[in-house]
Amino acid sequence: MDTLLPADQALARHALTASANAYAQYSGFAVGAAARMRNGAIHLGANLENASYGVAMCAEVSAITAANTSGSLDLEAIAVVGHRFTPPIVADQVVTPCGRCRQLIFEASQISGVDIRVISCSADLEQIDVSPISILLPSAFGPRAIGLDQDWIGMRATLAERVRVLQAQLVQKD
Ligand code: THU
Repeated sequence: MDTLLPADQALARHALTASANAYAQYSGFAVGAAARMRNGAIHLGANLENASYGVAMCAEVSAITAANTSGSLDLEAIAVVGHRFTPPIVADQVVTPCGRCRQLIFEASQISGVDIRVISCSADLEQIDVSPISILLPSAFGPRAIGLDQDWIGMRATLAERVRVLQAQLVQKD
């Protein structure tokens, strides 16, 4: 377990705040996540459940999606806080990311080039475990496993240029 940085403590508090936005009427279990980018920007997420139970989205998915939608997967850390808010209320259990979320965090680490710090917290923030994603998901399956060694940053620039061309065509049609 790594030592807790002041920035990690702050991120844990953001995750707790985000847990207030959970849509968790089926499990009664609220999860908040806060992702910190290498440039210091923070993106929040909360779990989003569904009457079709299997469709539920984890808080980490929401935070990583928010980061991506804002323009990058350049994560250096992600904090997770989960707590049962319906009886029996629980606030002292550390919540670690589920397997699917670990896979998503690993993918982000391949883009950011950082062994992302995963900050798993109890809701009272009395217990905070910090582990790099390489420890939480050893021998991970990633882009290299399928022979992919693409320059995503370069591809993203190509994508942005393509969207600019499409938008310029729209302006011409107006
Ligand atoms: N959940 C998360 O948001 N993140 C995790 O890493 C584990 C589980 C959510 C999914 C579901 O809405 C609730 O917690 C109970 O499983």
